[in-house]
Amino acid sequence: MTNTLTLRRPDDWHLHLRDGAVLTAVLPETARDFARAIIMPNLVPPVITGDQAAAYRDRILAALPQGMSFEPLMTLYLTEDTDPDDVAAAAASGLVTAVKLYPAGATTNSNSGVRDFDNVRAVLERMAEIGLPLCVHGEVTDPEIDIFDREAVFIDRVLDPIRRATPGLRVVMEHVTTSDAVDYVKAGNDDLAATITTHHLVINRNHILVGGIKPHYYCLPVAKRETHRLALRDAATSGHPRFFLGTDSAPHVDPLKENSCGCAGCFTATNTMSVLAEVFEQDGALDKLEGFTSLNGPAFYRLPVNEASITLTKGEPVTYPEKIACDDGPITVFDPGYPLHWAVQRD
Ligand code: DOR
Ligand code: ZN
Repeated sequence: MTNTLTLRRPDDWHLHLRDGAVLTAVLPETARDFARAIIMPNLVPPVITGDQAAAYRDRILAALPQGMSFEPLMTLYLTEDTDPDDVAAAAASGLVTAVKLYPAGATTNSNSGVRDFDNVRAVLERMAEIGLPLCVHGEVTDPEIDIFDREAVFIDRVLDPIRRATPGLRVVMEHVTTSDAVDYVKAGNDDLAATITTHHLVINRNHILVGGIKPHYYCLPVAKRETHRLALRDAATSGHPRFFLGTDSAPHVDPLKENSCGCAGCFTATNTMSVLAEVFEQDGALDKLEGFTSLNGPAFYRLPVNEASITLTKGEPVTYPEKIACDDGPITVFDPGYPLHWAVQRD
């Protein structure tokens, strides 16, 4: 029986760090285990320009505790006014690793996102030319479309037309939640990949709604029915090179989650590696974990893999804090609902 697992240090290809007190509270939770992360730009106000991304990067690095090493991979928030030259300059200087597309109104702080996709055509064409990836929040916002169908409809109405109109555009379909998205990504070429979150491998929609509403399991895209969760498990644990970890760890303080209109987001930074080891072990796929967390992402983003490694050991149930303290209020850590046995070794 395997009791020790050594992996190249993982990266998180989709992470919310926020700003101010929340940034200070959550950054060590990620930097403890992860070497790099793609940093989401949906701050208030959003990170739209290269200058804003540089300033945010500086704030992240200033919040990093001494002795920890972590590389934030910055993104720009795509708006209908985004200047293709600004994007190209930010990419050429190495400041940004991707551009993020939020359909306007799809999720937290997405109001400055895109309403008319024709208005971002020039930016997308420039990105295709220079090979800069587009990270996509794949949900339509049409009020007529049921929230559980919004990802599948997005593929047909928005994503596929964009990809056909912009050959060579490199796309990461983020936090996929459906078998429709898994199938679409598998059928695509090397310019298409997907991230999968930790929590979507664990929960389905029953976890949110059965026996009382569970605000800490509410996120967007919302978890779907069990068949979809199983499709995600299969994609993640199969070793397919175009699926990799993007936790979408999205901290909100408890008063904003436990609320009559609670915010979307699961905070998984603290225990993601323990949860993933448990999940991959359950599926008899521990040998595929390193690909998912540490190899497939760098390959798609054309970045070197990390030289350092981490070791997980299996033993008694792991203890981790139920909540992270923050000056703005406590932040609840994702509870997978079962004990975890794999601990990241800390020395
Ligand atoms: O659950 C989510 N939370 N999904 C998103 O797309 C955004 C994120 C956030 O920023 O809170
Ligand atoms: Zn996100």
